[in-house]
Amino acid sequence: MQIEIISNSPVFTRNLAKSFSRVLSRGDIIIFTGELGGGKTTFISGLAEGLGVPDNLSSPSFTLLNEYKTSSRIKFIHADLYRLENITDFDGIGLEDYLYDGNSIICIEWGDRIKDLIKKEFLEIDLGYLIDNENNDESNNENDSKNEDTKRRIIFKSASGYWDLKLQVFKKILKKTNNS
Ligand SMILES: Nc1ncnc2c1ncn2[C@@H]1O[C@H](COP(=O)(O)OP(=O)(O)OP(=O)(O)O)[C@@H](O)[C@H]1O
Ligand SMILES: [Mg+2]
Repeated sequence: MQIEIISNSPVFTRNLAKSFSRVLSRGDIIIFTGELGGGKTTFISGLAEGLGVPDNLSSPSFTLLNEYKTSSRIKFIHADLYRLENITDFDGIGLEDYLYDGNSIICIEWGDRIKDLIKKEFLEIDLGYLIDNENNDESNNENDSKNEDTKRRIIFKSASGYWDLKLQVFKKILKKTNNS
């Protein structure tokens, strides 16, 4: 099952993530895929806010992984595998300790790099630019095209009954928020 949503701004993406956080529970694993600068970290900070993580979330760089606590004392794990050199390094970052502990909500940026190693159902959230940047070549001014660049396509991809169910609940939440 898939849900596709167009976001017009970072604020939209953040609020969408806050709504989505309501369907999350202990043990959930989400991998984030898509283009560089697609909005993965923005989405994940919205999730963290929705779950009542008090800290301001920043991208894990040297550690590749940060641990936070939600307001209901669930561990919230933010991993970023952009700098993961190769898959054998995966052992070293400690992510596996969290994946199956059943007490963590785990978000993995660039998670497609290790998705074959995850032995549990996970959700994929794919974030990409809506307009193809390659077609904006007419303008030589990089800043101009960057300013226009706030549209994103966000696709929630489930490959399990577990996540299908959660996406169905999420659809209902979206309907309610759109009608209010
Ligand atoms: N609709 C949008 N949704 C999310 N972010 C957006 C949107 N429009 C513009 N942005 C901006 O895109 C930039 C990159 O966002 P972000 O860091 O969340 O992406 P990322 O996918 O985590 O990047 P990276 O691939 O470097 O990890 C930010 O400055 C963000 O504000
Ligand atoms: Mg990021």
